[in-house]
Amino acid sequence: MVKPRVLVTRRWPAAVEAKIADRFDVVLSNNDIALKPAEFRQAFKDFDAVLPTVTDKIGPDAMELAKPRTKLLANYGVGYTHIDMPSAEALGMVVTNTPDVLSECTADLAMTLMLMAARRAGEGERELRGGRWTGWRPTHLVGTKVSGKTLGIVGFGRIGQEMARRAHHGFGMDIIVHNRSRVAPDVLAKYNAVQVNDLDDLLPRCDFVSLHCPGGIENRHLINSRRLDLMRPNAFLINTARGEVINEFDLVQALTFETIGGAALDVFDGEPRIAQTLLDSDRLVMLPHLGSATAEAREAMGFRVIDNLQAFFDGQTPPDRVN
Ligand code: DGY
Repeated sequence: MVKPRVLVTRRWPAAVEAKIADRFDVVLSNNDIALKPAEFRQAFKDFDAVLPTVTDKIGPDAMELAKPRTKLLANYGVGYTHIDMPSAEALGMVVTNTPDVLSECTADLAMTLMLMAARRAGEGERELRGGRWTGWRPTHLVGTKVSGKTLGIVGFGRIGQEMARRAHHGFGMDIIVHNRSRVAPDVLAKYNAVQVNDLDDLLPRCDFVSLHCPGGIENRHLINSRRLDLMRPNAFLINTARGEVINEFDLVQALTFETIGGAALDVFDGEPRIAQTLLDSDRLVMLPHLGSATAEAREAMGFRVIDNLQAFFDGQTPPDRVN
């Protein structure tokens, strides 16, 4: 039987590349550079499935062609707002993602950021490595206690729930949730969480606010100057969702004028470009989009893509179909 021809756009963990090469007629990436729109258009003519990832921008320009050979876009990553879904729909392409397998690791990283921001870990490490540490003293780099505080979680999908589990059961935090749909009472009960209908009601009640909602147009600048003003003056904002959810200009203003306590970001609007004003802010912890960056999660994400491919080419509905 002829194996389906598939294109992997970036380097993947070795074990996953080996498995995919075993099962499919695959072209792997050797330069690990994101494809340009014209390269995507060509790929859609040449391959039965294209396997992009979250930093591959597949906008309408990348999908301007009449009759693609590609029938499946099996994304490596849970977020898929980088894919223009109406165009995929119009071209008859099925789109899949890789949920679940990265939820724990992404929540672990959100916890890392929350603790780093509250306990001034980034400042401390910069001071120590810069040779400026003069020793222990009662007033040195005093931060904010995390245990027992109130955490607001915006977006209560799988990652948001893992965040709640860690914060509530590990750190004794009270959990307030905002989510676009109603969360089942038994799910809220697991974390003794309360759901509010309006994000504006959550913000003033929290010591920490962690974003776990999707990105895209719908949530672009969900956190803007008006909403930052609703936060407590000593509260912290954590973002492991998507950069565009925060208006970064407004965040810098809030940090500069100390209307919030601090922030920690794993994702950026227009990443990997980082606004100089963000780099200049000492009240900000920043990591380079590391949410799912563990060997375990990255392999599991790849194997999940293969499950979707296999199901699709076996004539079944892929388990993680999103359209
Ligand atoms: C995703 O999967 O959407 C993350 O941002 C990368 O792990």
